[in-house]
Amino acid sequence: MSALLDRHSVLLESLLEGLGSPLHVVLPEVFEQNVLALRDAFAAAGADADILFAKKANKANCYMRAAAELGIGVDVASAAELVNALAGGIPGRRIGISGPEKDDGLHALAVQHGCLVAVDSLSELRRLAATAERARATVRVLLRTRVSSQPRSRFGMAAEERHAATALCGELAGAVSLHGFSFHLAGYSTAERAVAANEMIDHCADARRHGSSSARLVDIGGGLPVRYVDPQRWSEFLAQNEPTQYHANKEFKDFYPYGGKSPGQAVRDLMGHPVDDRETLAQRATRDGIRFIVEPGRALLDQAGFTLYRVEQVDDRRGTDGYAIVTVAGSSFSLSEQWFDSDYLPDPILLPPHQAAEELFPSCVAGSTCLENDLLTWRKIAFPRPVRRGDHLVYLNTAGYQMDSNESPFHDAPLPLKVVLRGGDKNPPRWRLDRL
Ligand SMILES: Cc1ncc(COP(=O)(O)O)c(C=O)c1O
Repeated sequence: MSALLDRHSVLLESLLEGLGSPLHVVLPEVFEQNVLALRDAFAAAGADADILFAKKANKANCYMRAAAELGIGVDVASAAELVNALAGGIPGRRIGISGPEKDDGLHALAVQHGCLVAVDSLSELRRLAATAERARATVRVLLRTRVSSQPRSRFGMAAEERHAATALCGELAGAVSLHGFSFHLAGYSTAERAVAANEMIDHCADARRHGSSSARLVDIGGGLPVRYVDPQRWSEFLAQNEPTQYHANKEFKDFYPYGGKSPGQAVRDLMGHPVDDRETLAQRATRDGIRFIVEPGRALLDQAGFTLYRVEQVDDRRGTDGYAIVTVAGSSFSLSEQWFDSDYLPDPILLPPHQAAEELFPSCVAGSTCLENDLLTWRKIAFPRPVRRGDHLVYLNTAGYQMDSNESPFHDAPLPLKVVLRGGDKNPPRWRLDRL
């Protein structure tokens, strides 16, 4: 990323001018490095783990191809995601299907392609079994289970329902084959995830006692954290954060933990977590013949993409309000943390690069829709020089959810294009549009 910005910013600017603002740039080589690093982290922690890339985190097809080439799987949560994963070259047996109460159409595709289905309720299990019976097939399933630390989650089965579903899997053995358990956990605590994973190992043992001999998979979900900024700077920021630093004194209650652990550290902490006074999670899993599934979205996309915007207008209110409002071509639907009523905090980089001026230029960044709340960055960023119409902003590390989770054709705007870029470090960069 640094090499691209240092040596090839002219190419980036010309791509943005030619293909329209905003423009997303996706870097499959970084995705590939992240996959290899995560594999190494699990191996070093002494754990057997299958990686399924959580497709919801980014719609680009290039990541599907990269996943297919590296032999990892994909986690999907809709028929459209499943179709795109298959079209990208991922075999059905390496596709996991998650999400609550999946419809019969998605079930039928899952059965036909031999996918692993995480079943969310007893009623879903009955419907899926009926679909498999009609197709004269056996479908591999995980039972999604509520964990003791988050008993009020809307996802997964509580203890009584899980017992009934485990027993039903035994009765429906020709149609469904119980391979293990999964869970949903909000938040990024590795200790809480380790405790939840350990509960799933108990459930596997229980299922095996009740006749499901293949119950040996524990799906620990996604939720591996990404470190966007240095932890020291992050805690300094939190200590002095206050509403006056945002446009219209907006108060944000919660942020993504931008200065958290790296994914590798999180894997070490998770697998090394003591489950009792004798064993770590990885050791207990090995003793019980358990294989993990991990479904990272954000962690595999760390630095694997960024977003460019062209500046349309600068409303310099420094004389009255103390800061400027920079309006860019495009909207916050292509970047923001709005689902979580939060702000995307990493500073954008201003292009073309210029020598820093004597004085910083504080400014928030707005989109060009007619919505008062359409701000890409509410926080007043200290730009190193005055921002001008025609400048470009680079928002870093946007591939994980930021780019396209909320993208919208509001105002009849076309959805932003994605450019796949390879090289740029040792070799000259090559680009193409991201298409199937
Ligand atoms: C079932 C499931 N798996 C994986 C993920 C990916 O999570 P993350 O991007 O935090 O790794 C999610 C996120 O919503 C999810 O719901």
